[in-house]
Amino acid sequence: MIAPSSSLERIRTVIVGDHDELGRLVAGRIAALVRTRAAAGQPAVLGLATGSTPIGVYRELVRLHREEGLGFAHVVTFNLDEYFPMDPGSIHSYHRFMWENFFSHLDIRRENVHIPRGDLPRDRIDEECRRYEAAIREAGGIDLQLLGIGRTGHIGFNEPGSGLESRTRLITLDLVTRKDGGADFFGEENVPREAVTMGVATILEAREVLILATGEHKAYIVRRAVEGEVDHEVAATFLQRHPATTFYLDNAAGAYLTRVATPWLLGQVEWTTPLAVQAVTWLSRQTQKAILKLTQRDYAEHRLSSLVAAHGTPGALNGLVFNALGAKIRGRSKLPAGQRIICFSPHPDDDVISMGGILRKLLENENAITVAYMTSGNLAVFDHDVRRHLDFLGRVAGELGIAERAVTQLVARVEEFLAAKNPGDVDIEEVRDVKRVIRESEAVAGLRTLGFEEGAARFLDLPFYQTGKVRKDPIGPADVAIVRALLEEVGPDLIFVAGDLSDPHGTHRMCKEAIDGALEELVAAGRPRPEVWLYRGAWQEWPVTEATWLVPLSQEELRLKIQAIFKHQSQKDTAPFPGPDEREFWQRVEARNKGTAAELDKLGLAEYFAMEAYVVESR
Ligand code: F6R
Repeated sequence: MIAPSSSLERIRTVIVGDHDELGRLVAGRIAALVRTRAAAGQPAVLGLATGSTPIGVYRELVRLHREEGLGFAHVVTFNLDEYFPMDPGSIHSYHRFMWENFFSHLDIRRENVHIPRGDLPRDRIDEECRRYEAAIREAGGIDLQLLGIGRTGHIGFNEPGSGLESRTRLITLDLVTRKDGGADFFGEENVPREAVTMGVATILEAREVLILATGEHKAYIVRRAVEGEVDHEVAATFLQRHPATTFYLDNAAGAYLTRVATPWLLGQVEWTTPLAVQAVTWLSRQTQKAILKLTQRDYAEHRLSSLVAAHGTPGALNGLVFNALGAKIRGRSKLPAGQRIICFSPHPDDDVISMGGILRKLLENENAITVAYMTSGNLAVFDHDVRRHLDFLGRVAGELGIAERAVTQLVARVEEFLAAKNPGDVDIEEVRDVKRVIRESEAVAGLRTLGFEEGAARFLDLPFYQTGKVRKDPIGPADVAIVRALLEEVGPDLIFVAGDLSDPHGTHRMCKEAIDGALEELVAAGRPRPEVWLYRGAWQEWPVTEATWLVPLSQEELRLKIQAIFKHQSQKDTAPFPGPDEREFWQRVEARNKGTAAELDKLGLAEYFAMEAYVVESR
C-alpha cells in the first residue's frame, strides 16, 4: 500500500503485510540494482545495517544467491556502525553479525566488505573514521543505503542531537538505545556506552535510501519520522530532505500513520463498518463524550459529516457503533464450551500473562485444554537462580539421603562454569537444562494456580530456540513438524496464538511462523483448520476497535491471573529481558486489563473491572 497523494507523509512510504513480505520486497530491489550494475560491468556499492529488522532481507538475498545465481563478486559494502569498544569476534560485534547472517553465505570478496572498527585504541578512532569516509568516496559513493530506525529515531547510531553535517565518528549511545540493546547483551549494564557510526551527511549522500521498520514498538517513531517536522532530535527526519528515500513498514509499524489511524482527516474515505467504529471511538476520545452522546456538531467539527450522512442521523450511527462494540463482549456463557483447545505459549509465562483470565473461564466451561510451551525460555533465567535451585536440590538430597553424590558433582560442574562465565557466554548443557527445568516447573505451578492438572502442560522445546544464544536459528522443518504432530494428536477446534510480534528477540514472531507452517501443511493434507485467536499482553494489548472479542474479568479473576504470573519467579522483580517497559509483567497486565475495561467505560459501555482482548484471525 503506497500513500494517497493527500497524505501528510513527507517520505515515500510503503506498507506491506508482514516481516517476510517486507524482506522479499526490499531484497528484490537490492537484487535488481546488483544485477543492473553487473550487466553494465560495474560494482554495486551497498550501505548495510545490522539489528533485527534487516535479517529477513539478508535471508532472502542469500536465497537469491543460492537458488537464482545472484552474484556478489562485484558488490562493495559499507556498514553503518559498530559498538565501541568491541572485539570483532565477540557475539555482540556487528562484524560477526554481518558475517554470520550474510557475507559468509555469499561469494563476496573479503576486501570489498567495510565495517567500522570498534577494536582500535580511542586515539586512533578519528583517523579511522576519516579513512572510512575516504574509502566510501573512492568506491564512488553508496548506491543504495539500507537503514533501520531506533526508538530514538536514530539512523545508524546518530542519536538525538546529531546534525545534518555529521560524518563518521565516535558517539555516545542514548539511554533508550542501550535499554533496547540490553535484550542482546543480557542486560542493559553490559551494553557498550559508545559506538562508531556513519554520520547523517554520509547517509544522505547515498543515491537511494531504503529505511525499514517492523513491529508495534516502532509505530510511534515511524509516524514522527514520516509526518513530523525535520528536527535534529530525530535523525530519521533528515531523510525528508533526501530525494530518493522509501520507508518500508509492516502493518504494525505503520499503525499510527494518519492514513491508517485517522484516514478521514486526509479527505474522502469509503465508510465500512470497521472504519465507522474506528472513527466514532476516536471522536468519543477526542471529545471525551460517551458514544451515545455524540452530536451532529461533534461530527461536523471533526470532519466526520460524511460518516453521519452515510448513516442518516448521529443517533443511528452512535447506536450502530455502540452495539458493534457491545457485541464484542464475551462473558463465560458466550465462550466456547466442551471443545478441544490448544494454547500455544512462545515462552513459559506468555500463557498466564496474556490469557490467564480466559484460560480459567475456558477450564470452567469444561473444554479440554492443552497448553503448549514452544520454547524452554531458559535464556531468560539468571545464573543466581540456578545456584539457588541447585542449593535446594543439594539440601534435599543431603537431608533425605537421595543420590547425594550425583547432585554434588552436578553442583561442582555448574559452579566451576559459572565462576568463569562472562556476560553473554553460551551456557554449558547442564546449566541450560537446569534453567529449562526451572521454567518448566514455574509453568506447571502457574497452570495449577488456575486450576489445571499438571498433564495440561506440554513442553515442545522447539529446536530453533536451542542455540543457547540470544540470536535464534530460523524456523525450520523440524520446528514445524513438532507443532504439526501436536495439532494432529489433539485435533483442536480452537487454538490460541501469540499475536504480539514485537518481543525483544522476535521469538513470538518465529513461533507464529512455525504454527502457520504447520497449519498450512494440515490443511494441504485435508485436515480441518482450527479457529485461531490471537492474544497479546506481554508487550501491549489489542486496541478495543481491533479486538474481535473482549473478555471481562472480575476482581477475583484478575487476582488469580496475577497469582499465576507470580509463579514465574525467575521472571519477577527484574526479568533478564524486560524490553522497553520498566514494569514487572504482572503490573503491565493489571494496568492493561483494567485499562481496556476503563476504555469501554469511557466510551459509555458497561463498567467492567478488567478485560482481556482477542482477535480472531481471518483467512
Ligand atoms: C544498526 C543500526 C541501527 C538499527 C536500529 C534498529 O546497524 O544502525 O540504527 O538499524 O537501532 O534496530 P532493530 O532493527 O534491531 O530494531
